[in-house]
Amino acid sequence: MKMKLKTTVLSAVIAASFIATGVTASDKTEPRNEVYKDKFSAQYETWHDTAESKEIVDMLEEVPSLVVLWAGYGFAKDYNAPRGHMYAVTDVVNTLRTGAPTNAEDGPMPMACWSCKSPDVPRVIEEQGEDGYFKGKWAKGGAEIVNTIGCADCHEKGSAKLRMSRPFAARAMEAIGTPFDKASRKDKQSMVCGQCHVEYYFEKTDDRKGFVKFPWDMGTTVEQMEVYYDNMEFSDWTHAVSKTPMLKAQHPGYETWKLGVHGKNNVTCTDCHMPKVAKASGKGKFTDHKVGNPFDRFEETCATCHNQSKEFMVNLTKERYKKVGELKASAEKQLVKAHFEAKAAWDAGATEAEMKPILMDIRHSQWRWDYATASHGVAAHAADEALRILGTSVDKAADARIKLAQLLAAKGVKQPIAYPDVSTKAKAQAALGMDMKKMNADKEAFKKNLVPKWQEEAKKREATYK
Ligand code: HEC
Ligand code: HEC
Ligand code: HEC
Ligand code: HEC
Repeated sequence: MKMKLKTTVLSAVIAASFIATGVTASDKTEPRNEVYKDKFSAQYETWHDTAESKEIVDMLEEVPSLVVLWAGYGFAKDYNAPRGHMYAVTDVVNTLRTGAPTNAEDGPMPMACWSCKSPDVPRVIEEQGEDGYFKGKWAKGGAEIVNTIGCADCHEKGSAKLRMSRPFAARAMEAIGTPFDKASRKDKQSMVCGQCHVEYYFEKTDDRKGFVKFPWDMGTTVEQMEVYYDNMEFSDWTHAVSKTPMLKAQHPGYETWKLGVHGKNNVTCTDCHMPKVAKASGKGKFTDHKVGNPFDRFEETCATCHNQSKEFMVNLTKERYKKVGELKASAEKQLVKAHFEAKAAWDAGATEAEMKPILMDIRHSQWRWDYATASHGVAAHAADEALRILGTSVDKAADARIKLAQLLAAKGVKQPIAYPDVSTKAKAQAALGMDMKKMNADKEAFKKNLVPKWQEEAKKREATYK
């Protein structure tokens, strides 16, 4: 009885001190980047310069086939190329993929969609546990996840020491036998990026519904992850045209970097994207935090190890992008046809049993295409691996289309079938019956009504921090 009374009194005292002085609820994470503006000014300013990479490239306009490949999934609505870290929160709020929620319980996406956008993510996990953080819809986090990718994503509080800020990333590094605590300084420099620039999925089991997991239990190659997903019969969505149980690759940059010549020699993400540069004062060096294109600082990146000219290296890289781009386009062309041919087969009365092997080929082909192309920068990091994977993608799409041609013939369907016009983003979205006008109007209403409330609430909360 006495004991119980004591704890009650103690927690009352703690609660009172929270209200009286105002503290950051998590003592491990300071989510506000501005706090470090003076203490670490050179790092802060260069970090802030990621705002210069502000161009928005609409990938669905560039490659309308993507709308068909992702039919029935959020990415068919809206997908832009990545830009500076400074825009991570803005972009996830603005994309049509997160829908137009009207309250905290509304909307298509889960909380997990915030996971690679902000140091508020580790803060909330530390305050509420993973159970608390991952529970509920994406809109639940609107007033909590407000600071863009910054210091506390990669560093311990108030310090230059690197850390794994996400427990799910730390577990994944352990699963592949490279726990962060035992890693070398060089390894840590890449691992901090590997918290986000990786393949991941949202778990579906009752006790961990919506949790982020990296599918690395069997390894990190495209084949190993494919077997992992197949074994648990996992799919991200069912394709709206072909009814294939699909996998969506995220951005396995860390995994593909490891397979390239630089990864194999442990040339780290930091060596190329965050080089050590001279301070403005001329005295000493610091880490340039403007994560962006390594060619912008050629002398401090490539040229620290290579003698070739910048022009030579830029052209070589461009050539690799072109070669990867060509094989990528071949895979896309085959896959688009396969999806429509599968639909024609269903329409002609094909059975589940007849379709199953075909849908598996489509699933594996598109997974491989996506793995190779969603790992941004892969043509620079590991062009040979990208070309190898894309080769297997084209091969598997061909397997699907041979089986489809036979099946369609058996069902008496005239070939070639009539493919809809999907030559622009708008035509492709119309062909799939997507009401873009309504989606855009709803999104505008969300930005006008709910987003300002989130910002106001966040401001009030942060005002209580020390
Ligand atoms: C907390 C998650 C997270 C971490 C950690 C992270 N990134 Fe990113 N990165 C992102 C997201 C999200 C984007 C896309 C932002 C957007 O488009 O709004 C991005 C974009 C980028 C871009 C594109 C920038 C541009 O201007 O086009 C590069 C390059 C990049 N990251 C490299 C890195 C490197 C190198 C590291 C490690 C030093 C790293 N990132 C750490 C999440 C992260
Ligand atoms: C995407 C990950 C990432 C983010 C975000 C990030 N840092 Fe760093 N930071 C690094 C890496 C990597 C190093 C280099 C570590 C090494 O040398 O081993 C570093 C080094 C540092 C250092 C040590 C001195 C130096 O310049 O090498 C300081 C201080 C620092 N960062 C402060 C900050 C501050 C302040 C912010 C936020 C405004 C920030 N960092 C954001 C990854 C990050
Ligand atoms: C040997 C140098 C090197 C290393 C190491 C390296 N990168 Fe890159 N990365 C590049 C180059 C070069 C580009 C292409 C830049 C360009 O021309 O747009 C690039 C592109 C990218 C892009 C795409 C940017 C965009 O806007 O499309 C991302 C993201 C990225 N790298 C992240 C990483 C991550 C994460 C790591 C570590 C796992 C890493 N890089 C390691 C050199 C490197
Ligand atoms: C920290 C050292 C280091 C940095 C920085 C670095 N490299 Fe390398 N690079 C290597 C090593 C090590 C190899 C493999 C062994 C060799 O060829 O010497 C390599 C190999 C290469 C090769 C030949 C292998 C291949 O890919 O076909 C090219 C091309 C290359 N690097 C381009 C670049 C470019 C472009 C940059 C800057 C964006 C860069 N490197 C930055 C160390 C580095």
